Formats: sequence, C-alpha cells, structure tokens
Amino acid sequence: MSQTPEWVPEDYFNRLNINDFFEKPQPLEVDLGCGEGSFLLAMAAKYPERNFLGVERLLGRVKKVAKKIKKSQLTNVRVLRLDTKYLVEWLIEPKSVSRVHLLCPDPWPKVRHHKNRFFQIKYLEKIHQVLEPDGEFLFRTDHDEYFEWALEELEKPHPFQRLEWNEDSFYYPKTDFQRLWESQGKSLKSIRLKR
Ligand SMILES: C[S@@+](CC[C@H](N)C(=O)[O-])C[C@H]1O[C@@H](n2cnc3c(N)ncnc32)[C@H](O)[C@@H]1O
Repeated sequence: MSQTPEWVPEDYFNRLNINDFFEKPQPLEVDLGCGEGSFLLAMAAKYPERNFLGVERLLGRVKKVAKKIKKSQLTNVRVLRLDTKYLVEWLIEPKSVSRVHLLCPDPWPKVRHHKNRFFQIKYLEKIHQVLEPDGEFLFRTDHDEYFEWALEELEKPHPFQRLEWNEDSFYYPKTDFQRLWESQGKSLKSIRLKR
C-alpha cells in the first residue's frame, strides 16, 4: 500500500479503525494537537512496531508535519487535519487506541474560555471509550493553573486510574513547545491515566 503522509478520511461520519489507514496494523497512539510534530516523529522513529497519528487543526502545521514525515520515509506515522474533539468523539472506533497524548495544549487562561479546555471529565470519558483496556492517556502542561484545574477535574467521578509518571518510566521525547517553555525557565507538570 502506498500511503501519503497526510491522512484525509473519505468518510467523516462513521467510526473508523484508524489502523486500516496504515501500512501495518499495530498498536495505535494518537497525539492531540501535534503542532509541528517533533514529538510525533521522534516516537515513530523510536517505535516502528507502533502506529502514530498526529491531529492538528492549523493547515500550516499539518503541512510542516507532512513534509517531515515524507522526509523521514516512516510509514508508521500520519497526520490528520481535524478538530481533536471531533476525532475522539465521532471518528475513532471504541477500544482501538493504545495511548492518547495531550501535550502542552492551549491553556485557555480566561475564565470564560475554560469550557474549551480538553482536560474535562466530559472529554476524558470520550478518551476512555477509544482506549483499549489498559490503554493510557498522557497529559503534560506548562500552565500551572490549567494543571490545578485538571487535578480538580480528577476529584470528580471518572473512569481512570492515575499512575505515577517519572522521568525514567519510559522514553518520552520533548515536544516543540516543551523545549520553548523550558528555555524560558518554565517546568512542565504531568498526569498519566490508565483505562
Ligand atoms: C500549544 S500547541 C502544542 C503543540 C505540541 N503538542 C507541542 O507541545 O509542541 C497546541 C496545538 O494544538 C492545536 N490545537 C488546539 N486546539 C485544537 C483542536 N481543537 N483541534 C486540533 N488541534 C488543536 C493548536 O493548533 C496547536 O498547534
């Protein structure tokens, strides 16, 4: 199968087994808001036995990621231009993803915009549906107030188990935004949830 770096679904109105759109069916990881894709590409290079889908709404960033994928010649990574919430709620087949990553998401700092934050029980429940049993959701933010908000969300009833996540738990490359924030002296806080 010859596959393009950018995945454009033919059908946006049925749930799909995303693995059907990769060269090999393998455990699938999804990077929500993949930005310019450094994390995505590094993961795909490190783990050829897994498939990676990056999702991003900005056209310029999607094109950049597609270029990087083409250059890398990796066939276990693709990028999709779509709203992350739509993808998780409507497009992915239940129990078909092994890990979902949400890294340095937009923090929506104004109170009236908090409703746009991805880390909320109603979206966590959607993530829970698409994860395989034992699948994981990994969240990292540079924004202290968003992190506190996330912890408060987790005080509500939710279907996940929180796991420890230390630096040496597993290979986890830095994202482009992480590098930027760390160069400005900020540190990131993380949450690891298991289905
Ligand atoms: C702050 S950047 C972080 C990018 C990358 N994860 C990183 O850490 O370098 C957030 C990214 O998420 C994308 N994004 C935000 N909301 C989105 C949505 N609803 N659907 C798809 N992409 C979204 C933005 O366009 C942006 O590229």
